[in-house]
Amino acid sequence: MSDFVIHGGRPLFGTVAVGGSKNAVLPIIFAAATVKGVSVIENVPDISDVETAVFLLEELGALIDRSGTTLTVDASELSYRPPTPSAALAIRASTYLIGAELARFGKTEISSFGGCNFEPRPIDLHLYAARCMGAFADGSLFRMSKPKSSAVFFKKVSVGATANALILASSLPVLTEIYGYAREPHIKTLAEFLSSAGAKIEFSREKITVEGRELTSAHAVIPPDPIETGTFALLSLASGGNITVKGTPSGELTPLLAPLMDAGAEIAEEGGGFRLFGELRSPCSFFAEPYPGLATDLQPLTVPVLARFLGGEVRDSVFPRRFGYASELGRFGVLSENIPSGVRVLPSKFSRARAEAVDLRGGAALLFPALISEGESVISSAHLIKRGYSDLVKKLSAVGADIIEK
Ligand code: EPZ
Repeated sequence: MSDFVIHGGRPLFGTVAVGGSKNAVLPIIFAAATVKGVSVIENVPDISDVETAVFLLEELGALIDRSGTTLTVDASELSYRPPTPSAALAIRASTYLIGAELARFGKTEISSFGGCNFEPRPIDLHLYAARCMGAFADGSLFRMSKPKSSAVFFKKVSVGATANALILASSLPVLTEIYGYAREPHIKTLAEFLSSAGAKIEFSREKITVEGRELTSAHAVIPPDPIETGTFALLSLASGGNITVKGTPSGELTPLLAPLMDAGAEIAEEGGGFRLFGELRSPCSFFAEPYPGLATDLQPLTVPVLARFLGGEVRDSVFPRRFGYASELGRFGVLSENIPSGVRVLPSKFSRARAEAVDLRGGAALLFPALISEGESVISSAHLIKRGYSDLVKKLSAVGADIIEK
């Protein structure tokens, strides 16, 4: 377990190149277990969630080579075994073993899965989709019966359950229709990967239609991470600096940027990226909801920005209780109070502090007051932040931050 030690107080200037998207690459790595051959995955971020996903696939016998940001996964010869519990518990993406193992082995163990524990993380929608396609419970296992053409109707939008349904359906030689699917761009990235392996996948407004088959070789190029892009853009604004962020195009972050620009922030497109700078001259509010709304993963990062300026309100309809990080932000002087499904943020004066990351994005939010406050701050449980941010110390140092990991 390591700490970030930060000496803050100066605005941040420079350029950051964002890594590949965490939530895009993880389902694709697990989907590679359904490919009876070699998958090449480019622009893979160097984050601990990827390391854990690779470990879980190697346990099944996959031969995985990493060269720079390219992963080559040979899943020609796999054999089933239950996952190492500590690894499955470390990440939410281990839920993708459900679809991948049912597709490859016809069985999977419904063990306990991990991920940020900001609130209970059920898997009922994942299991519902598998049942629609012919899976059934057998003790702690789920097994596939004879695959059947089916229609999956999700009662609630779920990124993970949509991804799992796509992964399983793409290997079944039947027709599967998926209604109520999650619209995040990385669902399309996963579909493109599975299509490159031979699955026939079509998107319409109402449904995804999948004709699966045996998958033989696959390829994907992971897009930049929109959450990392948003994190550095917000940090540029909050620090009073000017960081050029090369990653997700600003136009794909409108739910984040529009309220800020309406409140007075400025944006400049340059050098293959964009800069968010200036100051907020009025309170600002955010409401996290399924895509194309504001990503829930970005809501923790908006709180210190609002506190830095004139406050506002942040609510989350996806994870209404995802505000446990607010008390740790309070150690830096960030003033907030609970409101239904969110927090009201008050203009605050930051001061250095010691705090602990409670989850990935809430931990990243602590970087803001630590980098802005004069003096030495310490953020413990830094490993939780490194789950989703590659080369963080290097990237922050390159824009003038005084940060070490120890
Ligand atoms: C993915 O989690 C991300 N994780 C999350 O990242 C992200 O916050 C979330 O999507 C929302 O964008 C990965 O991609 C690895 P959901 P996921 O299923 O798929 C409810 C992380 O921990 N639900 O879209 O688990 C759920 O409670 C974070 O990696 C059910 O009720 O999210 C939530 O209210 C940092 N039953 C809503 O659906 C289920 O079976 C959306 O959750 C599944 C979900």
